[in-house]
Amino acid sequence: MFVDLLLGLQWGDEGKGKIVDAISTDYSIISRFQGGPNAGHTIKIGNHSHVLHTIPSGIFHKNLINIIGNGVVIDPVIFEREILKLNYSKVDFNKNLLISKKAHLIIPTHCLLDQASEKSKGVKKIGSTLKGIGPTYMDKTGRNGIRVGDLFIQGWRSQYDKLKNKHLNIIKNLNVDISFELQQLEEKFFNSVEFLKKFSIIDSENFLFDSLKRGKKILAEGAQGSMLDIDFGTYPYVTSSNTTAAGACNGLGIPPTKINKVIGIFKAYTTRVGSGPFPSEIFDEIGKKISKIGNEFGATTGRARRCGWLDLVSLKYAVDINGVTELAMMKSDVLSGINKIKVCTTYKQFGEEISRMPFSLNSSSISPIYTEFDGWNEDITNIKNESQLPVNLKKYISFIEKKLEVPIKIISIGPGRDQTIYR
Ligand code: GDP
Ligand code: IMO
Ligand code: MG
Repeated sequence: MFVDLLLGLQWGDEGKGKIVDAISTDYSIISRFQGGPNAGHTIKIGNHSHVLHTIPSGIFHKNLINIIGNGVVIDPVIFEREILKLNYSKVDFNKNLLISKKAHLIIPTHCLLDQASEKSKGVKKIGSTLKGIGPTYMDKTGRNGIRVGDLFIQGWRSQYDKLKNKHLNIIKNLNVDISFELQQLEEKFFNSVEFLKKFSIIDSENFLFDSLKRGKKILAEGAQGSMLDIDFGTYPYVTSSNTTAAGACNGLGIPPTKINKVIGIFKAYTTRVGSGPFPSEIFDEIGKKISKIGNEFGATTGRARRCGWLDLVSLKYAVDINGVTELAMMKSDVLSGINKIKVCTTYKQFGEEISRMPFSLNSSSISPIYTEFDGWNEDITNIKNESQLPVNLKKYISFIEKKLEVPIKIISIGPGRDQTIYR
C-alpha cells in the first residue's frame, strides 16, 4: 500500500500546506483530491510565505510530481495568477505539475451565482469564500459541468453558453442586487483557459495506477477540514466536497485498499472562518490574544478567523470518520503564555452530557464542558527535540492522545519547515 492521506480534522487552515511541504520528500507524487481556490495553503520557506490555492503543496520540491486530481475544481483565472506568482520561485511546471482531464472548471457565472446565493440568504449566509465552489460542484453532480478535458473537444463553447445562461436565469430569479461586468470577466476567463490548456493535462487516475504498480509513494493532500465535509460537517455551513478520507478515493481514483497511513492534522486550539456553529468559540480577551499571536486571518480571503479552545468531541468524530492512524498537532507555540488552557471534552445538550457528535451543533442547544490545564510560559519556537518541551505541554499532548486513541507523531512549533518535531 503506497498511498498516504493528509487531512484537516477541524474547520480548515490547520496547517496542511506546511506539513505536506515538510514531509513530501518521503513521497514521489503529491496529489490534491478536492476543493478548489477556496483553499489557501501556506508554506514558509526562509522568510517568504507562499500561499497555494489550487496547486499541491509539494511544488517547491524539484523532484516531485504534483497532481491536481479529478475531484478538484479549477478557476483558470486564479490558476494562471497562482502560476505566474510562483514562476518567481523558478518552479519547472512542465515537469512537476499534472492536471486531471476530469477536474471541473469554475466559470465566471459560478462565482456570480455564489455571490447572489449568499446575498439571498441574508444573515443565514454560509460565509463562503465566493470562489464559486458550491455552484461548480452543484453543476458537477447535476451533470452540467465542464471538465478540463472538454476544452479540447469542439463545441465546448456552446456547453459554456448553455451553462452561463442557466446561471444568469437563476441569478435573476434570486432577485438580489449584485453588479458585474460579464464581458470583462469572460475575456479574462477565455484568456486563462488558453493558458491552462498549455499544461500537461492527463488521465490522472491511469497515471496514478501506473505509479502504484511501479511502487511509487503517493501523498494525497486534502483541502478544508472534516467539519466542513458536505456529509459529515456542520451542514449547511460546510463546503461542497467530501473533505474526508473517502473523498481522496473519489477525487483521485485511488482504491481504498491502497491506502496506508491517514495523517490527521489539527491545531492545538480551534479556528473557523465563515458562519456556522462553533461550540468552543472564545469571545473574550484570550480569543483575541490567540488570534493575534496565531495571526489568524484567512490565507484566501483575509477574513479574521474565529478562535476557540480545542474541541475533542468534534476531533474524535473526525478521527473516527477518517480512520486516522497518526496525528499532527499544529501551532502549539501559539498557546505559550496562556495561563489556563481549556479543552472541550463533552457537550451539554438538553441538560444531558454527551460525548458523541450530535446531529446539529446549533449553539442554542449545545454548550461545551471543559477540562482545564495549567499553561506554560516558555518560547518553544526553537526547540529541536521532544524532551525540551515544557512539562505542561507534554501533559496536554498525552491527554489529547489518550482521548483520541491515536498517537501525535508531529508537533509543529512555528510556520517554518524546521519548526517541526517528529516523534
Ligand atoms: P492550511 O490551509 O491547512 O494549509 O493552513 P493555512 O495556511 O491556511 O493556515 C495555517 C497558518 O499557520 C499559516 O499562516 C502557516 O504559515 C501557519 N503555521 C503553520 N504551522 C504553524 C505553527 O506550528 N505555528 C505557527 N505559529 N504558525 C503555523
Ligand atoms: P483550507 O484548505 C477554512 C469555509 C468558508 C465557508 C465554507 C464554505 O485553506 O483549509 P466555500 O467557499 O467552500 O463554499 O465556503 O467553508 N472554507 C474554508 N475555511 N479553510 C479553507 O480551506 C476553507 N475553504 C472553505 O469560509 O465557511
Ligand atoms: Mg488555509
